[in-house]
Amino acid sequence: MMSDVDLKKKAVGEKAVEYIQDGMTIGLGSGSTVYWMMKKLGALVSTGLNVRGVPSSLRTEKWAKEFGIPLVYFSEVSRLDVSIDGADEVDRNFNLVKGGGGSLLREKLVNDAADKRIIVVDDSKRVQQLGAFPVPVEVVQFGWENTAKKLVSIGCEPALRFVDGERFVSNNGNYILDCQFSNISDPFTLHEQIKRTLGVVETGLFLNMTETIIVGEEEGMTILK
Ligand code: A5P
Repeated sequence: MMSDVDLKKKAVGEKAVEYIQDGMTIGLGSGSTVYWMMKKLGALVSTGLNVRGVPSSLRTEKWAKEFGIPLVYFSEVSRLDVSIDGADEVDRNFNLVKGGGGSLLREKLVNDAADKRIIVVDDSKRVQQLGAFPVPVEVVQFGWENTAKKLVSIGCEPALRFVDGERFVSNNGNYILDCQFSNISDPFTLHEQIKRTLGVVETGLFLNMTETIIVGEEEGMTILK
């Protein structure tokens, strides 16, 4: 049986498909909520919907192939009509923390290329202030220890991500430092500070990067615009 959270994720993932029209090129986000969007989209493709998607992770690429969603890459297309992605935290100003699945860099590239950005989350992801979820920061492997020390000096406790006992390596060959800050009152300044740190590739702070958030709730859903 599906948990309440999974039911909410499924509902909002499937809802997001309503924003997709024939002929569109779609940014395919990552994560378990996006999975439901892709499953439904695949069913529509099998009945004749003509779309193509740019995947934001190898896992998403695998799902797209499984569900029969045609893929395209930035070598062939520069702008996307819409992107649909999940998030780990969303605040009331539509700022996000992403990268819980480790795909933040590709997700940011995909979301940035889209004319309309839709985020799908269950209501546990809504927060007053970002930061309870540690900010994933993608860093190059070489010298990551020194990069981590520099991040400590700007006020966080970075933890190198491990999955199944192994150092997690992103789809881009980098490490992820999960950075716990005691308080993120100004995500814009923080993002700039982290980005200026030598060795950092990208942060999981997605700021001013979404127009619509679909939130799954106990009784239905809320669409924030
Ligand atoms: C992947 O790197 C993330 O940004 C996901 O979009 C985020 O972690 C949300 O995932 P779920 O939909 O699985 O909660």
